[in-house]
Amino acid sequence: MEVKTSLLDNMIGVGDMVLLEPLSEDSFIENLRNRFDHNEIYTYIGSVVISMNPYRALPIYTPEKVEEYRNRNFYELSPHIYALADEAYRSLRDQDKDQCILITGESGAGKTEASKLVMSYVAAVCGKGQEVNKVKEQLLQSNPVLEAFGNAKTVRNDNSSRFGKYMDIEFDFKGDPLGGVISNYLLEKSRVVKQPRGERNFHVFYQLLSGASDDTLKKLKLDRDFSKYNYLSLDSAAVIGLDDAANFRTVKNAMQIVGFMEDEVQSVLQLVAAVLKLGNIEFKPESRSNGTDESRIKDKNDLKEMCELLGIEQSVLERAFSYRTVEAKQEKVSTTLNVAQAYYARDALAKNLYSRLFSWLVTRINESIKAQTKARHKVMGVLDIYGFEIFEDCDNSFEQFIINYCNEKLQQIFIELTLREEQEEYVREGIEWTNIEYFNNAIICDLIENHQNGILAMLDEECLRPGTVTDETFLDKLNTICAGHKHFESRQSKNSKFLTDHSLPHNCFRIQHYAGKVLYRAEGFVDKNNDLLYRDMSQAMYKAKHSLIKQLFPEGNPAKVNLKRPPTAGFQFKASVGTLMRNLQTKNPNYIRCIKPNDKKASHIFTDTLVCHQVRYLGLMENVRVRRAGYAFRQAYEPCLERYKMLCKRTWPHWKGPAREGVEVLMADLQVPADDFSYGRSKIFIRNPRTLFSLEERRRQCLQDLATLIQKIYRGHKCRSHFLLLKKSQIVVSAWYRRYAQEKKYQKIKSATTVVQSYTRGWQARKLLRELKYQKRCEEAVTTIAAFWHGTQVRRDYRKFFRANAGKKIYDFTIQRIMQKYFLGLKSTSPPMSPVDKSWPARPYRFLDGVHAELRKIFHHWRCKKYRSQFTEEKKAVYKEKLEASEIFKDKKALYPSSVSQPFKGDYLEITKNPKYQKLNSSVDAKVLLADVVNKINRANGKGTARIFLLTKKGVVLADQKTGQVKASVPLPDLASVSVSTQNDGFFALKLKEGSASAIKGDFLLSSERLIEIITKLHLTGATAADSERLNIDISDEFLVQFNHDKVCVKFIQGAARNGNGVSCKRKNNRLLEVSVPTTA
Ligand SMILES: Nc1ncnc2c1ncn2[C@@H]1O[C@H](COP(=O)(O)OP(=O)(O)OP(=O)(O)O)[C@@H](O)[C@H]1O
Ligand SMILES: [Mg+2]
Repeated sequence: MEVKTSLLDNMIGVGDMVLLEPLSEDSFIENLRNRFDHNEIYTYIGSVVISMNPYRALPIYTPEKVEEYRNRNFYELSPHIYALADEAYRSLRDQDKDQCILITGESGAGKTEASKLVMSYVAAVCGKGQEVNKVKEQLLQSNPVLEAFGNAKTVRNDNSSRFGKYMDIEFDFKGDPLGGVISNYLLEKSRVVKQPRGERNFHVFYQLLSGASDDTLKKLKLDRDFSKYNYLSLDSAAVIGLDDAANFRTVKNAMQIVGFMEDEVQSVLQLVAAVLKLGNIEFKPESRSNGTDESRIKDKNDLKEMCELLGIEQSVLERAFSYRTVEAKQEKVSTTLNVAQAYYARDALAKNLYSRLFSWLVTRINESIKAQTKARHKVMGVLDIYGFEIFEDCDNSFEQFIINYCNEKLQQIFIELTLREEQEEYVREGIEWTNIEYFNNAIICDLIENHQNGILAMLDEECLRPGTVTDETFLDKLNTICAGHKHFESRQSKNSKFLTDHSLPHNCFRIQHYAGKVLYRAEGFVDKNNDLLYRDMSQAMYKAKHSLIKQLFPEGNPAKVNLKRPPTAGFQFKASVGTLMRNLQTKNPNYIRCIKPNDKKASHIFTDTLVCHQVRYLGLMENVRVRRAGYAFRQAYEPCLERYKMLCKRTWPHWKGPAREGVEVLMADLQVPADDFSYGRSKIFIRNPRTLFSLEERRRQCLQDLATLIQKIYRGHKCRSHFLLLKKSQIVVSAWYRRYAQEKKYQKIKSATTVVQSYTRGWQARKLLRELKYQKRCEEAVTTIAAFWHGTQVRRDYRKFFRANAGKKIYDFTIQRIMQKYFLGLKSTSPPMSPVDKSWPARPYRFLDGVHAELRKIFHHWRCKKYRSQFTEEKKAVYKEKLEASEIFKDKKALYPSSVSQPFKGDYLEITKNPKYQKLNSSVDAKVLLADVVNKINRANGKGTARIFLLTKKGVVLADQKTGQVKASVPLPDLASVSVSTQNDGFFALKLKEGSASAIKGDFLLSSERLIEIITKLHLTGATAADSERLNIDISDEFLVQFNHDKVCVKFIQGAARNGNGVSCKRKNNRLLEVSVPTTA
């Protein structure tokens, strides 16, 4: 459920001082106290927020609170800093107005905390997303880094900002943060070398020594003990409630998030360490023979370590501590430094080193957080500057003067924009107005910053003047020039009023600031304003190998020696404050006025006098009075009409006519009481915030109604468009469908018509055909009858002439014709010329059977002859052998068919060419007709031995396969016969003639795969040999072979097929060799 509270609900005291009754200083303070006691630390004066420092954590900054204040009207909820932040953010986002949040108050009043609260609120309510969150995180994390280096514990505040900070947060048109820019104002650098009693140096020194690891400290050549460093005051090194070690980790983490590289962090820590080391360098006096005083470094150890840290040559820095070179008109004069000057040079270097490091940090952070896009952006500036400061015991110096001047300027801008501007606006707008008296501090600003006789101008003049310049001469100058000023007080001024004022020492001057009188000691003003760093020092620093140090002292570059004096500190500050003020004036201001309830940094204590003092100098009473006398809200007529025109039927949606008349109509229609507002020249002034709130509430309601209306119309439009689209689509679909259906129907009718038509036509055609056929038959019948009749007539007439031989003649003629046709026909139907072709045309008549068969034979012989006539001599020999083989073996031996396709190559061993058989070849004196390897069957066991088988014209030679040695040589005439089986085996026996020379050893039983070729060739050779008769070839499955003296029967039987070769030969007994031949499939 929505939390619905109001500024007026459950109010403790009065939430808005404008509503305070009766209004007096006492009631004002009482109201603040009452609220403070009830933990209500925020109170409004119109749109200004007064913030009391509670000095303890209150549960009012939770995410739920953020949600509660988000997008709520400023006056809707009880006062809170979130309401102001929300108002500023929404005004920036929705109305495109750049904003600035001005946070003022004295030191310790809670400005820095307030600025962080505003930033965290804006971060919580603005857009989300990975990139946006990163930007937010970087913006928020820049705070711990800057606080570590720029904040310190003072007597007033344990975390006092010692620099001014103005941060511009940039947003895109949606209100998402894009980045930011930080400007820093004059760091109180004197703190680096000396701190007032009870105060500390900048946090970072203590954080580094307490939080860094032993290893890091060793690398930085540091010791954890604070007391070892001259620059660290000891009396308040540890602060209650401040955990330096934990803060060091936070700062390192923050630096990482902001985008510092690891080596950058290390460089920064090295510089911090170098400052500490610098403080430990001490000098002792040494008199020279020429009477001048010189200084010497007491213990060079710290100097050495510092030089090592920064990469500076020790001798260079040592010289810079001993001499000072002054250059004038191309002349260089070196003078020695005495001890005091050496200390001054050391401290100046430390202060410069630290303050330049701080400025570098700001620049580096800016680099990380700057907006990445160049698109136009809206800006919210948050100003958190050091608060107004007054030290007791006349301890205020140049820094306090600068700080207070800055606060004076802020007060001025507050007066400008709220009090004076407000009153002037009423006059300008012609609104009836009773003038309210208020103190305008412009006169004090003028005392300080006037170009001619302002204190800063005089200080600059004094610094730049030739001759002896001291703080006393500066004070004298002030005394002469400012003596008559109402807000300047000095013991030595001509104004006799202060001559006897013992609270005003002679070496001091007093300024009546808007926030009270401050006594400044003139001592140090000239030096601090000069901010002089000897050129020898900056040149020594520039020579460092440490890149960051080099970067910090660019003026030390000998190539860019600039003899012009750098602008003074006061001048620079005045200029940057001037820029800041101009910047602030272009933005819509939002004020947070911080008040400190007590001096003890304690919660629950409300010191009336202290609060009263702040209320007075902050001009809060005048602020309330002006608000009460005037009007809480004003707006130009155009934007006012634009904003509220929807509340009246006559002005909505457009008003034609002047905006003012429109607003008048509007107000009359809304019946706003006439006392509650006034019409100015260009603006309407609304007296009471509640009137405005009620207008806003009505507008919100009306906007809701309008939104509903827009939604309704839009939804109607959307539904209607959708419906029309559906309707249109439906028409298209149905048109297409109808077309399709009609097309289908038409196609169906068309094809039916075609069928009917074709049937009809068919029927008609058939009918016609029948008629025509009948007609034709009739005609044929008539012709036939006529032919027969004519035939009969002719035969009857000629019968007497044909009776004897006409039949034979007709028969012969017919036969002749048939034969003629038959022979001519053969010419075209004769088969191909291949001798193996078996085709032959069918005979046409049975009586041609004999002729037809004879002709086929003749044709076959003729084409065979034709075929043979093409043969070469070699081919003829081959065919002769083949023919011989056929005659011997065809249908007699089963091995024969497989040999038909084998070419009879004869010399399988290539005996003439193969060098292996050269000897064998030479031992044979006739031409080798056949050379092959055969198996010689051993009669003892039937096993075969490989032998070379040679056939020549003269005989057969068997030789050893390996050695080629001749084993047997049989002349052809000694061969009686050859025996082979009828089966599919390669066994053959060479039988020798009894009584011949070769027959002594007996017959040969051999086996060869090429049996057919061997026997054919043997047969042919035997036949051609002139003196031999034809070799007898015996084909039978049982034959006798003569081995030595025995005759052995070789018997071939059919056996089962076995693996491998298949044919096996076994000795059965002394007289029987059995050869088993597998049956062929
Ligand atoms: N809203 C708050 N809630 C709780 N504590 C607060 C609040 N505001 C301030 N404080 C406390 O007061 C201390 C001082 O506040 P802060 O540092 O903001 O003062 P300041 O106005 O910035 O002072 P200076 O001018 O010295 O920088 C803080 O450290 C914190 O302890
Ligand atoms: Mg601060």
